[in-house]
Amino acid sequence: MKTLVKNIGTLVTPLGNTARKGIHQGETETIHDAWILSEDGIIKEIGTGEFSGVVDEVIDVEGKLVTPGLVDSHTHLIFGGWRNNEMEQKLKGVSYLDILASGGGIHSTVKATREASFEELVERGKAALDEMLGYGTTSCEAKSGYGLDSETEIKQLEVIRKLNEIQPVDLVATFLGAHALPKEYADNREGYIDLLCNEIIPKVAEEKLAEFCDVFCEEGVFTAEESRRILLKGQEYGLKSKIHADEIYPIGGSVVAGDIGAVSAEHLIVCNDEGIEALSGGNTIACLLPATSHYLNAGYAPARKMIENNVAVALATDYNPGTCPCLNLQLVMTLGCLKYRMTPEEVLNAVTINGAAAIGRADVVGSLEEGKQADMVIWNARELSYICYRMGSNLADKVIKKGKIVKGGRQ
Ligand code: NIG
Ligand code: FE
Repeated sequence: MKTLVKNIGTLVTPLGNTARKGIHQGETETIHDAWILSEDGIIKEIGTGEFSGVVDEVIDVEGKLVTPGLVDSHTHLIFGGWRNNEMEQKLKGVSYLDILASGGGIHSTVKATREASFEELVERGKAALDEMLGYGTTSCEAKSGYGLDSETEIKQLEVIRKLNEIQPVDLVATFLGAHALPKEYADNREGYIDLLCNEIIPKVAEEKLAEFCDVFCEEGVFTAEESRRILLKGQEYGLKSKIHADEIYPIGGSVVAGDIGAVSAEHLIVCNDEGIEALSGGNTIACLLPATSHYLNAGYAPARKMIENNVAVALATDYNPGTCPCLNLQLVMTLGCLKYRMTPEEVLNAVTINGAAAIGRADVVGSLEEGKQADMVIWNARELSYICYRMGSNLADKVIKKGKIVKGGRQ
């Protein structure tokens, strides 16, 4: 099946199969009056002017802006329940870590996720992905981490596998069993870490349920040394590393990330110079989550300093029921400009090629080039800066996944 996307007013895309960093963070290719030919979902050729040839389907985008499909490289997609009940506590000034320490927060989502059926989690995940697709997200990372026991962690990862089969957004699974210490192990940290290392990680790897292993490295959650141990065990089993680091207190998570060659470190709101140096040395992508900073009324990660120090920056939603119940990567793009002082081009690369690199898919998606998947967004915009500027509106006109329109227009 040959598909032609024609009358592209402006095509903006990064190039290559690796994350853009340092002075290359904002490097993009811009082509005017372009067309993209794909065959069976893969880009065959990109050209300008009139296309001559025979195709099965023509999608006329009437002069609009086209970019690669967006890649949301950090989400906690699968969970039961919501946590709007925490709003009142937050407004009274109770902190995120205090809510967690008193048995709420992640623990209340764990309870709801354990109680939810497989089918219910599939339905909820599917609804969330459908909304994301509408905002232009065509690939997405999804974490477990609301089971904190073998059965429910595996259930979450199986839900992700199922969702990968039944809807268009490509998913990459991350095992986040070390998201909190489950209540049953409140007096037995070692016991839970042993369970993760000796039982659940081997099982997840054996059943190929995840590609990445992640840990919430934070004061009162997992220490830097515990995080290192869990992530290295994951690596032994072939799971690449990610780490929630320096979100609230800088307890050494970013240093661990750089040391062990983690693919990405997440949040990094309070990342210090030592952390930035470690990330740079480890070639670790900084996956920054500005909508979470906004939602927590917290500070913003030092993105410019990271770019200056040759750390590749990706931006993601962090969709989760506690600190960021937001699926809109376009809003994240706006915050990337306004709060991190990143340029629209730097931001585009952060939600395309760098997001793809953060989930191990930079050879398949993240840019519009021959040989890559024909995943793209047709924007109700003529220029890239317009998307970042129109805060809160959904500017995705049509979303194309593997050469087919999956949102907007004829589906
Ligand atoms: O990335 N910080 C840790 N984990 C999530 C929030 C999880 C939750 O509160 O349910 C995050 O923000
Ligand atoms: Fe997160």
